[in-house]
Amino acid sequence: MRLLIRNIKTLAQVETGAERKSRVYGQDMGTLPCLDDAWLYAEQGMIHSFGTMDTLPAELQADETIDASGRMVLPTWCDSHTHLVFAAPREQEFMDRIKGLSYEEIARRGGGILNSARRLNETSEEQLFEQALQRLEAVIAQGTGAIEIKSGYGLCTEGELKMLRVIRRLKEVAPIPVKASFLAAHAFPPEYKENHKGYIDLIIDEMLPRVAGEGLADYMDAFCEKGFFSVEETARLLEAGLKYGLKPKIHANQLHRSGGVQVGVQYNAISVDHLESMGEEEIDALKGSNTIPTLLPGAAFFLAMHYQPARALIDAGLPVALASDYNPGSCPSGNMNLLLSLACTQLKMTPEEAIHAQTINGAAAMELEQQLGTIARGKKASLILTRPVPSLAYLPYSFGENWIERVIV
Ligand code: NIG
Ligand code: FE
Repeated sequence: MRLLIRNIKTLAQVETGAERKSRVYGQDMGTLPCLDDAWLYAEQGMIHSFGTMDTLPAELQADETIDASGRMVLPTWCDSHTHLVFAAPREQEFMDRIKGLSYEEIARRGGGILNSARRLNETSEEQLFEQALQRLEAVIAQGTGAIEIKSGYGLCTEGELKMLRVIRRLKEVAPIPVKASFLAAHAFPPEYKENHKGYIDLIIDEMLPRVAGEGLADYMDAFCEKGFFSVEETARLLEAGLKYGLKPKIHANQLHRSGGVQVGVQYNAISVDHLESMGEEEIDALKGSNTIPTLLPGAAFFLAMHYQPARALIDAGLPVALASDYNPGSCPSGNMNLLLSLACTQLKMTPEEAIHAQTINGAAAMELEQQLGTIARGKKASLILTRPVPSLAYLPYSFGENWIERVIV
């Protein structure tokens, strides 16, 4: 299949030059390389070439030609943090929070993650798969071109394996890359409430060998947080994961300055995610590390919490990524277009910074930066074609409006 897109008003996030760079943007997040009045040619799903219209080779033949007059083309969004596999929504807790209960209080009373775990363990693999596939198709239609999905609502060996098998099936059928993270350390199940060591032993001695044995996970995750997994417990889990080749990618500093960022950096995590609660020490720990600070403003929005200090992170030269955190508790939406608006309005990121954060930097937070995240020769032709729009800034500006005409994955 050969695809030619012509008369593109703006082709955004391009990488030019003889040698393709697949860099993570830290230092220069504010500048978005674009070509105006451009064309793009793809073959077998890969970007073959692109340029400005005056350079379009006259002999170029395609099976499909799109006239993109007035429209923009961007790489698809790379959503590096989701909990897309779940059994049921939790709108009752949403109403409890409107009446004043906090997210933490709901969790302490056995709701929250434990509520999702009960429901998940009552639901068949088949049903979970069907529901998750529908959600996946919906987010792809909203521009998501790669996604990470976590376990963490099983909280027992069979439940965790069931979730990871669902994710494996999604990997097999999805038209986009899917990465899996093993998050048994999401909460302590009730029977281990007073026996934390017992649950961590279960994860390490029983679950991990089976997860790794079946090749079910790419990453090791843990919810490092007061009332959940301590720094010491997280360290033990990450070390065990590494023995099985699972690199860390963790939940850190959502509700408190838990030490999660530092322990993530210590174990060379691919990313530390959430980061609502940050200070100087956390930012210093991230400087000079390879760990990507991944911000989840959708969760801060939905829980009405303070937002992540994106400006301080970007001004420190860190390669900030943005991800949806799609899950039934703290962010029941995987819409990356809304996320773009939140990043600009609430985190004070510029449109250019936010686009970097949810394309190439998100790709890097899943180790997919060689394949996705920019318009570059040899990368996947995974593209968002907009409707006619006046400018790039219009995309985050027009929040809630569907400005996507077509998603090509
Ligand atoms: O990333 N904070 C921990 N885990 C998820 C939410 C889980 C839930 O409430 O179901 C998150 O926000
Ligand atoms: Fe999460």
